[in-house]
Amino acid sequence: MLDKIGFENGLLIETICSTENPDGSPHSAPIGVKRAGMLLSIDKLFKDTITFENLVRSGYILINLLDDIETFYLATFSDLPREEYDKSYSTRIPPLRRSNAFIEAELVNFRDRDNFVSVELSISGILIRKMKPCFFTRCKHAVLESLIHATRVPVFRRIDPKEAGSLMKLILHYRDLVSRICPEEPYNRIMNGIVNRLRDTQI
Ligand SMILES: Cc1cc2nc3c(=O)[nH]c(=O)nc-3n(C[C@H](O)[C@H](O)[C@H](O)COP(=O)(O)O)c2cc1C
Repeated sequence: MLDKIGFENGLLIETICSTENPDGSPHSAPIGVKRAGMLLSIDKLFKDTITFENLVRSGYILINLLDDIETFYLATFSDLPREEYDKSYSTRIPPLRRSNAFIEAELVNFRDRDNFVSVELSISGILIRKMKPCFFTRCKHAVLESLIHATRVPVFRRIDPKEAGSLMKLILHYRDLVSRICPEEPYNRIMNGIVNRLRDTQI
């Protein structure tokens, strides 16, 4: 089934992982998930994330597979609103409305590696909702790379300002690329949103 949707063995994909908060509500964050045979792994899950706390407490995770850059943007900077979840499934927590497929998984074990853990997951369910034609676009990749860097800039501003500056340079490079070759909606709007958020949080 995973081969059929292109999630080949050894491949790392960028997903949005939903976990269960202590009050039963869902929490979602973009996280890289790797396939390791019939198991999945999150090689680097930072311990200061809500996702880590929820996963260790509940032992359950719902991995949303989607290429909707707007949902990635929303999930990176805020809690997704309730209307982003699809309640028509009887899963423990609802999948995202815009997911093309989702995988339910259980925590097998995790290895402590200082400020992050490496997590091993076993698959308990897979549902393919939409098969969409896929193609490359530089716009999506530029925005996705910028989102990943944007989550690291505030951390490096505290511990390594030089590295924070290098990441900021990369983000500005992608913003220039996007402004030259991508449409305003949603790419330029999101890139400007990322840059403005990082400027606003500058200490
Ligand atoms: C595309 C993308 C991939 C990410 N992958 C990871 C990851 O593999 N591990 C991780 O700890 N944080 C990752 N992050 C950062 C988290 O999503 C971000 O720090 C989030 O705010 C922390 O999660 P929380 O909301 O559960 O606290 C990624 C961010 C993006 C945009």
